[in-house]
Amino acid sequence: MTNKLKYFIGNWKMFGDIGSFKIIYKINQFSSKYRKLYKIKIVLCVPNTLIYFFKKKLKSKHLSLGVQNCHYHQESGPFTGSISATMLKNAGAEYVILGHSENRSEGETNNLIRKKITSALNQKLNVIFCIGETYKEKNKGNTFSILRKQIKNSLKKNFSLNKIIFAYEPVWAIGTNKIPKIKELKNTIKFIKNEFKKIFKTKKSAIVLYGGSVNPKNICLFSSISEIDGFLIGGASQSSKKFIDIIKNYYK
Ligand code: PGA
Repeated sequence: MTNKLKYFIGNWKMFGDIGSFKIIYKINQFSSKYRKLYKIKIVLCVPNTLIYFFKKKLKSKHLSLGVQNCHYHQESGPFTGSISATMLKNAGAEYVILGHSENRSEGETNNLIRKKITSALNQKLNVIFCIGETYKEKNKGNTFSILRKQIKNSLKKNFSLNKIIFAYEPVWAIGTNKIPKIKELKNTIKFIKNEFKKIFKTKKSAIVLYGGSVNPKNICLFSSISEIDGFLIGGASQSSKKFIDIIKNYYK
């Protein structure tokens, strides 16, 4: 098994309350031991209502906390119901998920996502930038062109690229128990890494995660794809047991 750093990032979505700290607590305990055996980085992206409380309570170097979106306007402003990157950073977030398909489906465009990324990077937040094609786009053979467009139109050449983690999440694989064919996935991850090098004229390799119906059973299938740098885990990250089993089974 590889000794390259692997990310296991949880996306709690609209889930959790103060009592859910026990999930974080257990994952943190696991992480403090497991990090001695394998190079892993665990991040949990929780709802905005919990970030401050969890951060205060956790005080850990074994687990980082993040959130799941931010407004494009960086500071305060007349944006009812919205939260800025500055506010999230001050509340304890180190990471922010941007471009998630569940937000794209509510109207987030590549242009808006670019503004949000700008704002997050200005606050020195690490960005988990989600890209992925719909089932229809996949069937038409448009996966690569969609991904290229999402990357080109959402990222700018002057961004701190080392603060951006890509998460390839085919829309049709999110919460559906469907996953891509392993060979196809390998090719897509390679494509994203190559595009990154081409677009940004860099020799640096992008960090690319896979997300979409990852669970303790199917995780073993992904171990064979050395190009994958980790996973963005939705539903299964809401249970400490499932999340921990995913990591354990990955290294089996
Ligand atoms: P899922 O979600 O693991 O529940 O499919 C992944 C995600 O939306 O990030």
